[in-house]
Amino acid sequence: MSLFEKIPHAGEMVDLSRLPDHVGIIMDGNGRWAKERGYSRLRGHRAGVERLHDIVAATSDLKIPYLTVYAFSTENWKRPQEEVSGLMRLLIEYLHRELAELCANNIRIVFSGEEEHIGPRVREAMATAAQASAPNTGTVLNIAFNYGGRQAIAAAALRLAAKAVSGEVPAADLTPELFEAELNPNGLPDFDLIIRTSGEYRLSNFFPFESAYAELVFTPVYWPDFDEREYLKAIAEFQTRSRRFGGVAPA
Ligand code: IPE
Ligand code: IPE
Ligand code: MG
Repeated sequence: MSLFEKIPHAGEMVDLSRLPDHVGIIMDGNGRWAKERGYSRLRGHRAGVERLHDIVAATSDLKIPYLTVYAFSTENWKRPQEEVSGLMRLLIEYLHRELAELCANNIRIVFSGEEEHIGPRVREAMATAAQASAPNTGTVLNIAFNYGGRQAIAAAALRLAAKAVSGEVPAADLTPELFEAELNPNGLPDFDLIIRTSGEYRLSNFFPFESAYAELVFTPVYWPDFDEREYLKAIAEFQTRSRRFGGVAPA
């Protein structure tokens, strides 16, 4: 069922002609959602994956070109081993189960994050999903997995420095644009809107460079409860903001 069948008045909740190009979501609160119900943390993550399915479909129905979701941070390795391996398994399951539907919806899957420490089965599932969906021309779903913003910036700087040292890139060409291209080889634009669920007011290493002028929307709703209606509410809040980018508001 499409978003417009589920929520027939979606077009009244948001202005469909002024949607963000790139939405980022820090999917937080799975653990607290589970704890409040006496469930294991992993069951919370499972419930979170169901939400991801719905929100990706809604993003595609809205024809929003880019969606980045924070699924596993470089800091999340600090969690108990059982939870970490559960999250790895969940990504594999998600990709296996959803790939056909994502492709049927013309969605392209890309990843941000470091390959280091990720096991071969997870990497294989990621590569398969990226390859199979590469020709798709609809919404780009960027899954930030084993992603840390500071590490990504440092790694891009290091790669560029190596190119400068080898002479591949003359030092005079080291422009901010070149740096951006190195940082985001998938060509994703800066964020327009970043949503964080679960009532936490921080970015937790989520794309510090690309979020420079993003509008931030925080909601107390835990991620497993974040449905299409909540998504539309967050987009509606984004649409109330006056984005000046350092300039002045139009008269
Ligand atoms: C977000 O939910 C999912 C990941 C970080 C992988 P959490 O697991 O952080 O949930 P809380 O913050 O403990 O409630
Ligand atoms: C951020 O959430 C990472 C993801 C949503 C994947 P965390 O729950 O890990 O962030 P902190 O520890 O509360 O800052
Ligand atoms: Mg959390």
